Amino acid sequence: MNRARVVGTGSALPERRLTNADLEKMVQTSDEWIVERTGIHERRILEEGQAASDLAATACRRACEAANVPPTDVDCVIVGTVTADMPMPSCAALVAHKIGCRPGTPAFDVAAACAGFLYGLSVADAFVARGSYRHILVVGVEVLSRIIDWSDRSTCVLFGDGAGAALVTAESDGKRGLLSSHLHADGSLAKDLCIPAGGSAEPLTAQALAEKRNKVTMNGREVFRYAVKNLSAACEQALAHNHLTADDVNLVVAHQANLRIVEGVAARVGVPLERFFLNLSRYGNTSSASVPIALDEAVRQGKCKINDNVLMCAFGGGFAWGSAVMRW
Ligand code: UT7
Repeated sequence: MNRARVVGTGSALPERRLTNADLEKMVQTSDEWIVERTGIHERRILEEGQAASDLAATACRRACEAANVPPTDVDCVIVGTVTADMPMPSCAALVAHKIGCRPGTPAFDVAAACAGFLYGLSVADAFVARGSYRHILVVGVEVLSRIIDWSDRSTCVLFGDGAGAALVTAESDGKRGLLSSHLHADGSLAKDLCIPAGGSAEPLTAQALAEKRNKVTMNGREVFRYAVKNLSAACEQALAHNHLTADDVNLVVAHQANLRIVEGVAARVGVPLERFFLNLSRYGNTSSASVPIALDEAVRQGKCKINDNVLMCAFGGGFAWGSAVMRW
């Protein structure tokens, strides 16, 4: 049976840096609080006039280049995002057009918030296992700066913009590629991390806009608690499924939301923190883009070697979360 194997990665980060010192001038916060509670030092903000599909297209071109597969050979584009250019069409359709995929190439978005890339990877794996497609671009992109309430210190210090992409190919050697994915969701906890207005439940009104109900609202403590618990459980599920122990894991690419969450997962799963790839100090939480950006940086730093076991995990709004193991 074919498996999805990553043959090229790419990422794109906006030039503009927003530091903790900048935030001190905007809300009642301090560099000390942000670093101590989250590990974040700065994040990137997309310039006006640019949209998610622009960032995603750059990440995709880089992934195609790294894989030596031209966009005209890409058979499908899957984008995880909560900040598509517009509610319709999908971000993926715009990305496929921008990078020059063949007209008619299937492209669609998956809505799983911070777990969007892992959900996309799992769908891509099912496509290649079935023989539907050979080369698939799996992307995570967010322009969270556009859906953040910049006067809410409990959220605005956490998030950033960015895009990451992986080109996966059908691998038939029976050893390398995606060994497993375990996806989960629990809508009963939706209110703890959501954007209340702007959808069919609460269409945008002048009042909703005035109350900033079209911006991210979060119960940070609850999200934190569930994130550590559910990410750890999903990682343990992945290891057990593949008959691997913590010692067999060469690299963990975890969702980059908060250093304390990653530390909590590392302690519970028993993989030393040194084996977790970390870049959240530079980019903050980029939601669905966080895992593929970290994966791209890890690959480019030579941290993914042939036959390494790479464990990935993500948790976010929904709640939606999951884990995956890739034999590199
Ligand atoms: O991608 C998935 C989505 N999100 C996450 O994974 C985030 C999960 N949650 C977290 O990372 C943490 O809960 C936060 C970083 C959001 C907050 O850290 P915390 O240690 O849970 O702080 P807290 O919410 O318990 O707040 C502690 C205090 C509060 O003051 P009082 O009530 O103790 O007086 C807050 O008002 O810190 C205050 N506070 C701040 N102070 C300075 C909240 N935000 C800030 C801030 N600067 N930016």
